[in-house]
Amino acid sequence: MLVTGSEILVPAREGKYGVGSFNTNDLEITQSIIHTAEKLRSPVMVQVSEGALKYAGKDLVNVVIDLATRASVPVALHLDHGSSYESALKAIRLGFTSVMIDASHHPFEENTRETRRVVEAAHAMGITVESELGRLGGIEEHIVVDEKDAFLTDPEEAQRFVEATGTDYLAIAIGTSHGAYKGKGRPYIDHARIQKVSELVSVPLVAHGSSGVPQDIVERLRAAGGEIGDAQGIADEDLKEATQHGIAKVNVDTDLRLAMTVGIREVLQKNPKEFDPRKILGPARDLMSRIVEHKMTVLGSVGKA
Ligand code: G3H
Ligand code: 13P
Ligand code: NA
Ligand code: ZN
Repeated sequence: MLVTGSEILVPAREGKYGVGSFNTNDLEITQSIIHTAEKLRSPVMVQVSEGALKYAGKDLVNVVIDLATRASVPVALHLDHGSSYESALKAIRLGFTSVMIDASHHPFEENTRETRRVVEAAHAMGITVESELGRLGGIEEHIVVDEKDAFLTDPEEAQRFVEATGTDYLAIAIGTSHGAYKGKGRPYIDHARIQKVSELVSVPLVAHGSSGVPQDIVERLRAAGGEIGDAQGIADEDLKEATQHGIAKVNVDTDLRLAMTVGIREVLQKNPKEFDPRKILGPARDLMSRIVEHKMTVLGSVGKA
């Protein structure tokens, strides 16, 4: 069933488990996310970025809504990194049940104003909202406190922000970062900061940039002719621990991009004569499903639906 973000995330924060919010751009990715959630009896969020909307438009939205509506588990359709009030409202008109307004690059007051505006409009239509405070970026364990404080989320600011905006869930900067290159070694996650934020803020917390970048997938990508540098992701243990302290929504895009590319490359490398798209994309879809399954297992959402 298609539900709002809060219907999925409030029980997750209460129950101390995380729910994967996976980016989609096409049918195969969407199927791997929703069908795996059904197989594992897990709630799930499917997120579509403005870039994905530009690529596949309303057709993609309709595919997600159809699969979500018919699914035997709760599924939310979420706008990822909405850049403006207009973008968030457009998504709601298209049928999204959850939207992010990302004004985190603006100063605190402007972020608060913009977020508040989206929350008021979205709530009037029964839709729930994610916003963000802090700047995403990798940190090293030995980084000095002042440097951390410069861009990671300040717990007291988070409390003021949630009270002033009425945001339903809040993305915080805790050491995760977007993409396949998250650090030179295992990225340092500021667990103490997550705990402080969740002592002051009762809404579900969101971690962006949470792909694990599994090393076996990276190696398979290289073996199949792909080129990738010193790729690093967030450790499973760090994600698991974060869910014990308030992180309820865990964003994953890069891992599915890598898995899809590995699946396609392996088929084409092994069989250069293949040109049936189903034989090329089918294995990619299977590999993405395995990634989704792994993430749901790590986050503890299996059996929660
Ligand atoms: O955080 C960004 C997501 O990975 C979506 O990326 O804007 O290229 O679709 P995109
Ligand atoms: P990754 O790049 O780690 O998959 O993060 C995706 C994300 O945060 C989308 O909003
Ligand atoms: Na988002
Ligand atoms: Zn993100």
